[in-house]
Amino acid sequence: MWDVSKYAVPWLKSAKVYGLADVDDAIRNPQRARMFVNECPLAPSEKVVEAVTRAARHGNRYPGTSPELRARIGRLYGAGAAQVLLVGGSSEIIDMAMRVFLQPGDEIVIPNPTFSMYEIRATVVGGKPVIVDTKPDLSYNTDAMLAAVTNKTKLIIVCNPNNPTGNFIDERELTRIVETGIPIFLDEAYLEFYPERESKVSWIARYPNIFVTHTFSKAFGLAGIRFGYMVGTEEMIKLFTKVQIPWSASVMSLSAAEAILDNQEELKRKRDLNRASIEYFCKALAEVPGLKPYHSHGNYMLVDASATGKASKDIVDHACKMGFMIKAMPPLHGRQGFFRITPGTEEENRALVKELKSFFGLHV
Ligand SMILES: Cc1ncc(COP(=O)(O)O)c(C=O)c1O
Repeated sequence: MWDVSKYAVPWLKSAKVYGLADVDDAIRNPQRARMFVNECPLAPSEKVVEAVTRAARHGNRYPGTSPELRARIGRLYGAGAAQVLLVGGSSEIIDMAMRVFLQPGDEIVIPNPTFSMYEIRATVVGGKPVIVDTKPDLSYNTDAMLAAVTNKTKLIIVCNPNNPTGNFIDERELTRIVETGIPIFLDEAYLEFYPERESKVSWIARYPNIFVTHTFSKAFGLAGIRFGYMVGTEEMIKLFTKVQIPWSASVMSLSAAEAILDNQEELKRKRDLNRASIEYFCKALAEVPGLKPYHSHGNYMLVDASATGKASKDIVDHACKMGFMIKAMPPLHGRQGFFRITPGTEEENRALVKELKSFFGLHV
């Protein structure tokens, strides 16, 4: 029988797929609260919907490179349009970065835990992920990351704030990583939730090895519309443009991005709801003996239930039975009870807390 794997590049054998079975499951079960993939619980505003609808009327035309939108995004950071690349979601930049920097056998340093897409896309090009555990308190272990660098290291990942830990890397520690001169992928997917923190785009002039990504899937709440961007030096952007598939941001996603940038009130509403939800979960879950919620700067919260003796899968399966989709996390530092919650509506948050309290034996 003809065997496709004889022809496929050999490193795909061990490559994993970024599975979407849980999202399919959520779509099949709309009665369940979707609190597992760091989406926004609020639908896009009418302004965004109208902009998308207007753009769809020109859906017979290809988009260009949107110089005005790039200039506008650049101005947010004091950067020029030539320093900005627009894409249909920042996952594309993760994939492009692997194709720009990694040949088969080249190494990429990735903290653990973090967003799983980096490792997956690195293995798709034959790259070798070098996974470096965070410290027991889940902060970045910079010494270990620097010790993991070899002459084969072509890329280092820093997700800031990190998903799922919710914490920022210390600035002095980040400086040590950046000063290696190795390309640094600085993922700021969740930074709009926390505008008190300045973007590290301002570091690019001093450290041209940095590039920074943002997405409209999180605080802007447009995950299904698909829009993201990166900022880097002009040389960096030229390289990424070589590997980009043209037109990946559709006319609909470009128009949605423009519309929501014009409507800062929408961003604020989503951000305020999320911040209130994070505070609520933090306080409510800390009342449960044995539960340790990690305060988060993103729209997710990591919780360690190891001290309760419950395993993450049992917790998440129980929540699912009760109508809440939350995410089981792999063991960390020998602890088996991690799970992650993405805040839903206020009503969903209250109902989930009630359910979790009862599951952990705290009756309210
Ligand atoms: C850290 C991080 N970066 C990037 C992404 C991907 O976002 P996008 O929807 O822009 O592809 C995610 C999604 O969860 C994420 O957690």
